[in-house]
Amino acid sequence: MQKDFMAIAPHDAAVSEAAFVEQYWTRIWQSMGGPGKIPANLTRKPEYRALAPYLAKLPQGARILDGGCGLGEWAAQLAAAGFDATGLDISRETVAALKKALPGATFAVGDIRATGFPDNHFDLYFSWGVFEHFEEGLQPCIREAFRILKPGAHLLISVPFDSLRIQWIRSRRPVDAADPSRRFYQWRLTAKEIAGELARGGFENVEHQLIHVRQGLLRGLQHHLGLSHKWRFSRALSLALRPVAPPPVFAHMIVAVARKPG
Ligand SMILES: C[S@@+](CC[C@H](N)C(=O)[O-])C[C@H]1O[C@@H](n2cnc3c(N)ncnc32)[C@H](O)[C@@H]1O
Repeated sequence: MQKDFMAIAPHDAAVSEAAFVEQYWTRIWQSMGGPGKIPANLTRKPEYRALAPYLAKLPQGARILDGGCGLGEWAAQLAAAGFDATGLDISRETVAALKKALPGATFAVGDIRATGFPDNHFDLYFSWGVFEHFEEGLQPCIREAFRILKPGAHLLISVPFDSLRIQWIRSRRPVDAADPSRRFYQWRLTAKEIAGELARGGFENVEHQLIHVRQGLLRGLQHHLGLSHKWRFSRALSLALRPVAPPPVFAHMIVAVARKPG
């Protein structure tokens, strides 16, 4: 597992990790206009394609948790589809806004490392881009997921993928972890590493999918060729290259599916 770091303002250096994560994401969601402002077509997302076969096996009213729900569009759409969907997020301001904007689903403030839900409670738990955010590693999130899932239920998570492109960059220019102008941002894992983490937490590994290849291409075009990801040209080029880009080289995220035995 590899660490990604981010540049920070000096006053952010002393903030605790949980407070930093909460403030960081609260600011991002506010800058995007808050819940309900973004038209979400979830069915086109690769995460939805990974999730769909597992949703299809569940009855109406099945209990589903979205851990680190952000703007809440997944929980809202699953609730509208007849599931008992809960969105949990560490950002108190975001959850307060979610409760007002999206009254159809249940939203709660909480930490996915200690949710407070009962044992064996959920029929499915998914979490996109959250398990990687704490420097102590993924195990506290995985252990808690194991506890609150029913035996036989599935966990689907996406985490940053340690692609061959990123490994190559690292081999040429190692990151200075002691640089005080940066702080830990997230873990980045290979397929073998995420499977190892899930197995260590008691899960059976079911499958994995490499996703967000175009995002990795856009980052690559910017990093290696200086082509800004904001330019229309870069976007067109990444679209053209997408069908021939090998996912192990360019994928930005990995979805891992695991099952609690029983
Ligand atoms: C990368 S965003 C992903 C949001 C959403 N899952 C999506 O795919 O759009 C991470 C989200 O997880 C939340 N988060 C981070 N750490 C958390 C934790 N330990 N417990 C609950 N939520 C957390 C953040 O507040 C933020 O909303």
